Amino acid sequence: MSENTDISPNGYCRTTQLDFFKKFKRLKPVEPSPGVLGCFFFSLCFILCLLLLDYRIVNRLQGKSLLITWFKFNDSSLVKEKVGFLEERGGGCDIYEGNWVWDDENYPLYQSKDCMFLDDGFRCSENGRPDNFYTKWRWQPKDCNLPRFDAKFMLEKLRNQRIVFVGDSIGRNQWESLLCMLSSAISDKTSIYEVNGSPITKHSGSLVFKFRDFNCTVEYYRAPFLVLQSRAPAGSPKKVKMTLKLDRMDWSSAQWKGADLLVFNSGHWWNYEKTIREGCYFQEGAEIKMKMSVENAFRMSILTLIDWISHEVDMTKTHVFFRSYAPVHFRGGDWKTGGSCHLETLPDLGSSSSSSEASSEFKTVVNVLSEHLEAGNMDLLNVTGMTSQRRDGHASLYYMGPKVGPAPLHRQDCSHWCLPGVPDSWNELLFAIFLKREFTLAKNLTNSSPSPT
Ligand SMILES: *[C@@H]1O[C@H](CO)[C@@H](O)[C@H](O)[C@H]1NC(C)=O
Ligand SMILES: *[C@@H]1O[C@H](CO)[C@@H](O)[C@H](O)[C@H]1NC(C)=O
Ligand SMILES: *[C@@H]1O[C@H](CO)[C@@H](O)[C@H](O)[C@H]1NC(C)=O
Ligand SMILES: *[C@@H]1O[C@H](CO)[C@@H](O)[C@H](O)[C@H]1NC(C)=O
Repeated sequence: MSENTDISPNGYCRTTQLDFFKKFKRLKPVEPSPGVLGCFFFSLCFILCLLLLDYRIVNRLQGKSLLITWFKFNDSSLVKEKVGFLEERGGGCDIYEGNWVWDDENYPLYQSKDCMFLDDGFRCSENGRPDNFYTKWRWQPKDCNLPRFDAKFMLEKLRNQRIVFVGDSIGRNQWESLLCMLSSAISDKTSIYEVNGSPITKHSGSLVFKFRDFNCTVEYYRAPFLVLQSRAPAGSPKKVKMTLKLDRMDWSSAQWKGADLLVFNSGHWWNYEKTIREGCYFQEGAEIKMKMSVENAFRMSILTLIDWISHEVDMTKTHVFFRSYAPVHFRGGDWKTGGSCHLETLPDLGSSSSSSEASSEFKTVVNVLSEHLEAGNMDLLNVTGMTSQRRDGHASLYYMGPKVGPAPLHRQDCSHWCLPGVPDSWNELLFAIFLKREFTLAKNLTNSSPSPT
């Protein structure tokens, strides 16, 4: 029986069972003690795995539990139905609290080889990554079910609209994920094109992809700090090579404005290495703040962003998101000192978000943001907790392109994400919130009483 003959979750268990009996047969005729011991532990593990798997499956499927069908075990509390997030009763559900569940049937949402909008760096399986488990996990909120992603439906919703991503390369990761998710519904791929004819390999400035038949654009603006980085003013101290103007938005901000969906992210560049050590200091007005900490500078940039949004963005038209920090998972070093993640093939399925690796500066920023979220049409896409559980989803050694082969062990990428993969789930959350707002608006319209005249 090949692993592919039955892809249902129950089939998955059956395969495991078969393997188990094969191993059992192999062990039996040989010497007793180590074999029997090993066998005992294997059985124990098997049963535990079964229970765990069963629990996870029951958690997300309406179907029958293995425990029910095999052992006549019935506990209706195990099989309780969750409310849909888009339903009215689903309104209070915290979609960021939950866990990752195995969903072999519905995931991945696309194959990288079918998507022409991917950097080589994200095409892990084409670059030689041997396992594909990381493509098959679905985010399951604890108290409700997310709407299933439907690319055709989404494109209809996005007709005549602009979606704009602004941020660093992890934002680009998410933007490319969205291009792949949406384009999976379109058979004529030539109807999707970059408006200036730029190739996807262009890594500075912006890229604007248009879905012709829907008059919809999905845009990316590279602005890792969000605020304006420029040459040092004349007369600055010699060690100042560049400055970040903490009170001015990036040049490209003029182009972000009219968007219908505006998705910001920032964080991966706000550290000592990428600023002060490179001779990039912080500036307010004409003054260079030689002593300002990176954390304070980051916070100022977020305040500038919030100020810009309140003055320059029409909040009745534009739905603004800020995606929170996506944790990195280097173990035993960082990106340049041999940190690794290439042996990770499973998410952290333990208690959710206990291992959130967001450092204090990101918490500060999230706090600053949260205070302003209530104010208007702005949402925090709070992916930090759920993403910290996905150390298995990084490109690790498989970011060099299909012709080059795996990277050396000491040069791993444990920051960016394989696609299909984790950023697809961020986009599913993005759409869930987008749809929720649409539905609420539609309901408000139908509920509002006709005008008195
Ligand atoms: C489990 O019990 C519930 C009632 O508690 C019943 O409705 C359901 O049919 C039972 N399921 C099975 C498979 O026996
Ligand atoms: C296409 O969408 C833009 C907004 O993104 C809108 O201004 C324009 O009128 C639309 N074109 C057509 C033909 O509907
Ligand atoms: C973000 O989500 C995590 C759970 O994943 C939660 O602990 C945290 O409080 C949330 N933060 C905000 C600002 O909502
Ligand atoms: C819809 O109406 C409810 C009250 O009926 C209100 O609280 C909510 O803010 C409205 N939503 C929008 C998006 O207008």
